[in-house]
Amino acid sequence: MKTAACMRALHIRPSILRYRAPHRALQHPTRHVTTATEAATNVRSTGTRTKNFAYGTVLTLGLAFGYLYVTDTRASIHEWLLVPALRQIYPDGEEAHHAGTHMLKVLHSFGLNPRERGVADSRGDLAVEVFGHTLNNPIGTSAGIDKGAEIPTPLFELGAGIVEVGAVTLVPQEGNPKPRVFRLPSQNALINRYGFNSEGAELVASRLRQRVREFAYQAGLGIDEAAEQQVLDGEAGVPPGSLLNGRLLAVQVAKNKTTSEDDIDAVVRDYATAVSYVGKYADILVVNVSSPNTPGLRTLQNVEPLTRLLSGVVQAVKNIDRKTKPAIMVKVSPDEDSEAQIAGICEAVWDSGVDGVIVGNTTKKRPDPLPKGYLLPASEAKLLLEQGGYSGPQMFERTLALVSKYRNALDEGPKHPSPSPSSILEKTSNSTSTSSQSSKTTTTLDLDQPSPSALSSNVDDLSSSAPTLTLKSTPKTAPAPSNPRKVIFATGGITNGRQAREILDAGASVAQVYTAMIYGGAGTVSRIKGEMREDAEQQKTVTKR
Ligand SMILES: Cc1cc2nc3c(=O)[nH]c(=O)nc-3n(C[C@H](O)[C@H](O)[C@H](O)COP(=O)(O)O)c2cc1C
Ligand SMILES: *[C@@H]1O[C@H](CO)[C@@H](O)[C@H](O)[C@H]1NC(C)=O
Ligand SMILES: *[C@@H]1O[C@H](CO)[C@@H](O)[C@H](O)[C@H]1NC(C)=O
Ligand SMILES: *[C@@H]1O[C@H](CO)[C@@H](O)[C@H](O)[C@H]1NC(C)=O
Ligand SMILES: *[C@@H]1O[C@H](CO)[C@@H](O)[C@H](O)[C@H]1NC(C)=O
Repeated sequence: MKTAACMRALHIRPSILRYRAPHRALQHPTRHVTTATEAATNVRSTGTRTKNFAYGTVLTLGLAFGYLYVTDTRASIHEWLLVPALRQIYPDGEEAHHAGTHMLKVLHSFGLNPRERGVADSRGDLAVEVFGHTLNNPIGTSAGIDKGAEIPTPLFELGAGIVEVGAVTLVPQEGNPKPRVFRLPSQNALINRYGFNSEGAELVASRLRQRVREFAYQAGLGIDEAAEQQVLDGEAGVPPGSLLNGRLLAVQVAKNKTTSEDDIDAVVRDYATAVSYVGKYADILVVNVSSPNTPGLRTLQNVEPLTRLLSGVVQAVKNIDRKTKPAIMVKVSPDEDSEAQIAGICEAVWDSGVDGVIVGNTTKKRPDPLPKGYLLPASEAKLLLEQGGYSGPQMFERTLALVSKYRNALDEGPKHPSPSPSSILEKTSNSTSTSSQSSKTTTTLDLDQPSPSALSSNVDDLSSSAPTLTLKSTPKTAPAPSNPRKVIFATGGITNGRQAREILDAGASVAQVYTAMIYGGAGTVSRIKGEMREDAEQQKTVTKR
């Protein structure tokens, strides 16, 4: 309660916050973009005096505690003061989220946003290879945190190696009626049924374009379309999505609400159009799809619709006007976890040419409270009855198990060899006709070139599932470019460094967080990375002894 009084005392007038940061002057050549963005912002920021208390508090604390301390993500202020304060001020989870997003955006425009300091990541001790890029760390933020791509840069500055923005739907849509987000503080968990509220692909694309143009201008390339294209074509020497070395930007797209899931052609059209707007600003495109959820899934007939859908996305991405195309990942629900469903999804992934899978999401189930035997307070028990997806630390074990299952299934390789790998084999070995052989039988070829990664990239993982492996040369690391190992990102219940490490050990390249940030605040990504480093140090000491 002291906090509330303090905030009232420190109340800063909103007019100060409307101050336009100097770099905004750059927006001139793309004024239509500015107005659209600002219109959206203004609608959201009207009224609510309480929000201004929050901004005032943050800014004033910034002065009182010192800029360096408050803007350093390792400062505990983010966890112990700001997070509970936001929760006090905004009883509604969605309001709190908007306030948090807006605060980051405003603070960023002043250069006052919390950020990770130091050069820890540049040491490369946490680096991972993803899609031919070296990510400087394997911790990501997941979809839903920044649905409208308003704060990708500040999110990267919190230390994330991957930032996923979206989901973005093709046309703007409201989502479900409010309230639609519910907190279970005793569990550090959430239930949400947003229902894909989105400002639409066109507006989101305009924000992403603006970001690229400002980058182009600062890099001295100009601020027009040609400058934008140069950056997108990689001529600035940074990934075109993240605009930061060692980081990648993922953009998630979803279909119109009104488009029926069963009308594959219509869904593909939605995705293709959304991709035509936002695709070129992404390093990774993510699609949200449901698996073929029918009995007898293993028959080709049931995998076919999903394959067709994903192939449509692959085709749309090929049409993107950019030198290097974004990688494509499909996000799958943790509730679709039967062997048949996983096998079906993996088959569609291989057959369509999608590059990887984001394993995990919220669950429709209601996991038992933690610690074991804990009784939820009545107010929270009641919330379990709300419809929606549940997220929280209880999800972790399921996510971990699911990652292992997907890793094994994907590493079995394609059931039907795709034309490209066999033509490569023909070109490089030119010995026998390989077109009708399964991937396993091609392993007897004497390959100078690296073989398809399903065979080569992790022979240890495969030894049980592919006992016939008789490669004469066994390149262990470099997969053939035409058939690289599928990439896995994991999401669901990841809250600390030990868990992130376990997830990576199970075969994922990136561990994404959402709910942990809602409860842990802006320093969460830094904390998780710090814990991973401490763990690694301890391991070293143990092995030395
Ligand atoms: C409020 C909220 C909104 C979300 N919105 C999306 C979304 O638009 N698209 C999506 O794929 N996942 C969405 N998610 C799922 C998260 O990206 C994440 O996969 C999930 O919450 C599990 O991770 P966590 O335990 O770290 O929160 C949302 C989650 C929450 C809590
Ligand atoms: C989705 O919405 C857009 C814009 O209204 C429309 O052009 C498109 O046809 C819709 N998609 C489908 C499959 O109806
Ligand atoms: C996303 O996938 C889920 C199931 O996995 C499905 O129920 C939902 O309709 C999809 N939403 C969109 C917008 O594609
Ligand atoms: C992922 O979770 C979000 C939010 O809970 C939900 O709207 C979406 O349908 C889910 N997607 C999949 C593929 O399950
Ligand atoms: C490779 O095989 C094709 C068809 O069998 C043959 O025409 C060609 O001469 C061969 N090339 C080499 C280099 O052996």
